[in-house]
Amino acid sequence: MKKPVIIDCDPGIDDAIALFLAFASENLDVKAITTVAGNVILEKTSKNALKISEYAGYNVKVARGASKPLMRELITAEFIHGESGLGSITLLEPVRAFYHKNAYDTIYEEATSCEGKLHIIALGPLTNIAITLLKYPDIKEKINHITVMGGSTELGNSTPVAEFNIYVDPEAAKIVFNSGIPVTMVGLNVTNTAYIITEDLEEISTYKNKVSDFVVKSLSPLFKFFEKIDFPGVPLHDPAVVASVIDENILETKFLRVDVETKGEFTRGKTVVDVYGVTNKAPNVNVALKINRERFIALFKELVKRYEI
Ligand code: RIB
Ligand code: CA
Repeated sequence: MKKPVIIDCDPGIDDAIALFLAFASENLDVKAITTVAGNVILEKTSKNALKISEYAGYNVKVARGASKPLMRELITAEFIHGESGLGSITLLEPVRAFYHKNAYDTIYEEATSCEGKLHIIALGPLTNIAITLLKYPDIKEKINHITVMGGSTELGNSTPVAEFNIYVDPEAAKIVFNSGIPVTMVGLNVTNTAYIITEDLEEISTYKNKVSDFVVKSLSPLFKFFEKIDFPGVPLHDPAVVASVIDENILETKFLRVDVETKGEFTRGKTVVDVYGVTNKAPNVNVALKINRERFIALFKELVKRYEI
């Protein structure tokens, strides 16, 4: 039975690749893509989502969401994703229009029609999810699970302690983590170990299909950047999260207490994970602690290969 999912994202190179994996999986039924400002501005993340879905030949509805965080100014990441959000890659202009409903109403519409089975995969700042929860309080009973790329049990990437998606909108993350909906947090402590190495990319380049070309062209320029910070490869943050929803055996998780710092001068956006239970506060989030990288990369290659003509 396919899992009905909505992918909320801010494409973004790794978001794009994550979408390609989701489209190719026989385990997922992607009901909609919702877009949020994050890696680049909303206009670009949204257009990128349309382009990516048409490039993949998967004409799913794309509904636009928030152009800025709940209470803060938007912070973007062009230094990694480029001005367009898709690095140096140019995809064809989309032929389809955006869905006529906004992200929040689309999530509610799908949650209602999926009768409690809907799984949300959140790959960007959590603004859309938070707004949906605020606008539709009854939606909590209609959402099966939310899997988030965000946070970290250890270090950050936007600041020494905060990961980008949470850093951009910590208030939204706090609402989602405390919603009472089953949430799995897949943070940098795991996704930084979900990296692809040059040998993997060399193998993928032999697939010679449109998605393998996208993967090779979009990731190759990033190896130098990550080599400089002593990474063994390019971390595939969002693809690892989608893979963990496709194959539930990829991650090791633990039900822990997670609080989000929204006030700290140096710690805004830090996910404070009570690994040892010292706060005696009730756990609220399934926290990813480990990923089976080999299993992830094998699934990654299998799904990219599926785009063979
Ligand atoms: O910190 C990594 C996350 O921030 C990824 O989702 C990436 O796409 C950016 O949104
Ligand atoms: Ca993202």
